[in-house]
Amino acid sequence: MYKLKSFANGFEYIEVQNTASSAKIALQGAHIFEYKREREEDILWLSQESDFQKTKAIRGGVPLCWPRFGSLDKSLPQHGFARTMLFELLEVKEIHEGKTQLILELRDTKESREIWDFSFKLQMKITIAKSLTMQLTTTNLDTKEMFLTQAFHTYFNVSDISDVTIKGLQNRHYFDALVDEEFTQNAEIRFTQEVDRVYQGVNAAVVLEDKRRSISIKSSGSSSVVVWNPWIEKCKRMSGMQALAYKEFVCIESANAFDDFKSLKAGESHRLETLIC
Ligand code: BG6
Repeated sequence: MYKLKSFANGFEYIEVQNTASSAKIALQGAHIFEYKREREEDILWLSQESDFQKTKAIRGGVPLCWPRFGSLDKSLPQHGFARTMLFELLEVKEIHEGKTQLILELRDTKESREIWDFSFKLQMKITIAKSLTMQLTTTNLDTKEMFLTQAFHTYFNVSDISDVTIKGLQNRHYFDALVDEEFTQNAEIRFTQEVDRVYQGVNAAVVLEDKRRSISIKSSGSSSVVVWNPWIEKCKRMSGMQALAYKEFVCIESANAFDDFKSLKAGESHRLETLIC
C-alpha cells in the first residue's frame, strides 16, 4: 500500500507500507527519510530538527549527493543540487505483499542548466522490503562528456555512537578530510572523535554493528565509502541538528568519490546501487 501525502506546508512525500517494512520518501531529492523493518527500530536516523522546507536539504535519511560529492567543485553547492530538487514519481509497483518498488526521476531544468550545463536523466529506483535497495542511474543526454561524483549519504540510526563498530574496511586506504592526508585502516572502526574519511578500493560489504543489531551495506558501481560523524564541536555548529545528535547516528555513504569519479560520454549511463540488510 502507498499514499502520496504532504505536510501542512505542502511538502510532498510518499508513504509506503507492506508486510515486511515501511518507508517515507520525499519527492524533493527522492529522499528516503524513514525506513523500518517490521518490529524493528528505524534503520535511518532523522534529525528532530527536520522541518521539511522546500529547497532546504533534509537532515537525516538518505540525501542524494549528485552530481558532486563534497565541496571540491566550487561551481556547485556542497554535495551537488539533486537533494533540493523536485523529482517526478514515475512508478510504484507492489511486487508482492512484502515488497514495494518506486521509481523517481529528475531531468535537467532551466535552473540546473544555469549551474551545471548538461542535459541528463537521473533515476532513483527504491525497493522497500525486508531489505532496502537503492539504485541511482545517471544518463548523459548531452553531447559533451560529463564528470560525476556522488553518494548515498545514508544516516544510520545507532544505539549510541560509542557502541558502534564498522567492519569490512580494514586494510583499505582512506583520505582523511580532517587533516588532508592518506592513511591505511588497520583495525575495525570505533568512534572517540570526529571522523570524516573517504575509503577507496572497497569491493565487499561494510558491516555496522551496535548494541541492537548488525546491518550490512553492499554496493556496486562504487568502490568508495565515506564514513562520517561530526562529534561534539562540529555537531554544535551544524544546521538542522541538535547539539547532542552526533551520538545517535553514523553516516556510511556508498560513493563515487575522489579517484572513484565517473566520466560519462554522450549517451552513456552509470548505476550506483546499494543494498542495506
Ligand atoms: C559528509 C562530509 O559527507 O557530509 C562532511 O564528509 C560534511 O564533511 C557532511 O560535513 C554533511 O554535509 P552537509 O552539506 O549535509 O551539511
